[in-house]
Amino acid sequence: MRPIEIAPGIYDVGVKDWNIRDFHGYSTYQGTTYNAFLVVDDKIALIDTVKKEFADQMLRQIATIVDPRRIDLVVSNHTEMDHSGALPRIMHRVGEDKPVYCSKMGLKGLKQHFRAPLNYQAVSTGDELSLGRRTLAFLETRMLHWPDNMFTYLKEDQILFSSDAFGQHYAGPENFDDEMGEAVMPHAKKYFANILLLYAPLILKLLDQVGKMGLTFKMICPDHGVLWRRDMHKILEAYGRWARQETSAKALVVYDTMWQSTRHMAEAIAGGLAAAGVRALPLDLRHCHRSDVMTEVLDARAVVVGSPTLNNNVFPTVADFLTYMKGLKPLGRVGAAFGSYGWSGEAVKLIGAELGGMNFRMVEPGLRLPYVPDADGLAACEAFGRQVAAAMGGNA
Ligand code: FEO
Repeated sequence: MRPIEIAPGIYDVGVKDWNIRDFHGYSTYQGTTYNAFLVVDDKIALIDTVKKEFADQMLRQIATIVDPRRIDLVVSNHTEMDHSGALPRIMHRVGEDKPVYCSKMGLKGLKQHFRAPLNYQAVSTGDELSLGRRTLAFLETRMLHWPDNMFTYLKEDQILFSSDAFGQHYAGPENFDDEMGEAVMPHAKKYFANILLLYAPLILKLLDQVGKMGLTFKMICPDHGVLWRRDMHKILEAYGRWARQETSAKALVVYDTMWQSTRHMAEAIAGGLAAAGVRALPLDLRHCHRSDVMTEVLDARAVVVGSPTLNNNVFPTVADFLTYMKGLKPLGRVGAAFGSYGWSGEAVKLIGAELGGMNFRMVEPGLRLPYVPDADGLAACEAFGRQVAAAMGGNA
């Protein structure tokens, strides 16, 4: 299927990883791609590589276009091993004396990953490199999402090679956004929610910087998923909205349950929220992957978390979710805690403390019910849901 000529003389020589289902804790239930790009000009540049185990596949693809030994230089936009793992193998074929351009932090990171010395050349924002008829320009994007990240912009073609930004963990028959239509957006949203959300303030600054630089794009080429060639404004607008952490009248009731009591509470709380006009989603952590729940958190105004008390603590899946969400730093949400218990009932207090620690506006006190909720208990849950809805500030 690959390589693909994405513009005259410019090829995607990356690979599709159809089978990956877990990307360091993110559920990649439709695989992913590791995109890498070959620009054939007077000089030949390779931008990014792939995971180590796909190195030979990538080399075979390059060889259908040019002998890899004809590559003059390599650009490493990002040190993480899904884009640089194949670098030593690739350089062995390309020639270990050929320059590898990367950011200053990239130079440090690559040296710490690979013992073999390569001809690293550090570049900074504003630096340019002529390929002959075309020019590569570099823009460091520190902490989006590693210290080493940078963009490479092909000036004459107005193509942005954006590394992880604007990507999606998705492998399918499509290669471009217009081949997917709206179906691309849930993948892009999940990627943002699980990889980039904690850097939202930096993304806003970057979007502002890109606007001030007057960069225009005929194509945005991330290192994962399909390439944007039709609706660049759509992904740029979505990144602005997600980075501003804009939410809607949507509440999540995230829980796990031992003997169904916390589930009954969750569904009654969701009922109370729905009755107040909120779009409420009960999400059972035994059936919903943490990364899918996090995708829903991205535009939810309230996150209500429930757990039974197990061994004086919260249920492990709930602790897992709270830890995961905390790291991704959603801001400005309403929070609430609930759960059933037998005799000690610490879980609700512990959840409340965790959500409070994330600066959620807490609905206090949380709601805990002994053993099995009766009709009065379920009515209390519905009332709790309405209380959360009120704290969300209307339906806007
Ligand atoms: Fe796709 Fe941060 O690597």
